[in-house]
Amino acid sequence: MIKEGKAVLDIEIPKVVSSKMGVFYNPKMRINRDITIFILSKVSRNLRICDPLGASGIRSLRILLELSNVKELIYNDIDKKACEFFRRMLSLNGLDSAPVKIYCADASYLLGSIRGFDYIDIDPFGSPVGFLQSAIISLNRHGLLAVSATDTSVLSGTYPQVCKRRYGASPLLEAEFYHEIGLRILIKRVIEEGAKLDFAMRPLLAYSHLHYMRAFFIKDIGSKRADAQTEKIGYILFCPSCIFRDRVSLDEIYTTCPICSSRLKLAGPLWIGQILDRDILHQETNLPTISKEALRLLEMLKLESLKTSVGFYTIPALCKKLKIPQPPPLHFLIDLLEGSRTHMHPQGIRTDLEPTEIIRRLSEWSLKSS
Ligand SMILES: C[S@@+](CC[C@H](N)C(=O)[O-])C[C@H]1O[C@@H](n2cnc3c(N)ncnc32)[C@H](O)[C@@H]1O
Ligand SMILES: [Zn+2]
Repeated sequence: MIKEGKAVLDIEIPKVVSSKMGVFYNPKMRINRDITIFILSKVSRNLRICDPLGASGIRSLRILLELSNVKELIYNDIDKKACEFFRRMLSLNGLDSAPVKIYCADASYLLGSIRGFDYIDIDPFGSPVGFLQSAIISLNRHGLLAVSATDTSVLSGTYPQVCKRRYGASPLLEAEFYHEIGLRILIKRVIEEGAKLDFAMRPLLAYSHLHYMRAFFIKDIGSKRADAQTEKIGYILFCPSCIFRDRVSLDEIYTTCPICSSRLKLAGPLWIGQILDRDILHQETNLPTISKEALRLLEMLKLESLKTSVGFYTIPALCKKLKIPQPPPLHFLIDLLEGSRTHMHPQGIRTDLEPTEIIRRLSEWSLKSS
């Protein structure tokens, strides 16, 4: 028996997690599910929920057991064994009379046939792109969409050609914040999918963790709102020789680094707006079923949400490019650069200072300390 949050599962902890295992359960995704509970607990209305790639059903069980605002939950998985397993787990968790429906269909087909959800969680093997359109259409106005992607090597730049084909964007593995670039490409893809149907998908909270990326969106309706979202799709310019980077729209792209005159690299198109909503992250988190690791991540995201920068710096990249022989400690750099830590890198610093100001402060410090 496994316990996660308030739910129990009659399943063995898998030695190897893979899409080929019987009924899929990945203990490492607990934090992902904890944050789902956090987000849904902040919604005051009653929710009609769809878990269209449900697998073991652990997410559905936790939603039913840990939240008090569930009007109806639809669990679905294409795999019959998963559906049968979930039915048994409902009984095991005392949820026989819960407002649940079980379907065993293709997720896109299900979302195309049933509409009017307030929350849909797309948590597939690999890329979510195939499920986006049906999910966005099926969502109510002001409904929430959660998207996980485990094709992180594609989004982060190991397979740039696949990223172009699947997400319509160029990643940039060379930048130390390549995970953030990937996450912003994923967000762009979701926004685009909504915008072509006059839906505005506003990012609420997005993060990159372990082997996956995750983003939550709120859906709104209307061409003007959709236009306002697409205006925040742009590009990142990155200097491979110095610490310069910039975010620009399509018609603002330039090719030469204003600091060192090197040829700039380009990533995108991608989302260049905020990815962490301050309001939701600054609300009280007194949920007893959320793991300490998830609380730590939420605390980090809360601090990070106060910055508006696109991209971050890491101590190794800063020291290498600015030729600083003795790396200063992280907390010192955070003070010096008015920065915050970032959940994406243990030695990362997120700051809203301009690159020239960072160089000035670090050179001054170097002179003083030599
Ligand atoms: C990564 S698992 C989902 C994990 C689950 N959401 C959780 O939190 O533990 C993906 C699941 O999607 C199912 N699946 C794959 N393709 C599908 C499709 N086209 N329609 C519905 N289910 C599908 C698989 O059988 C598998 O159980
Ligand atoms: Zn440069």
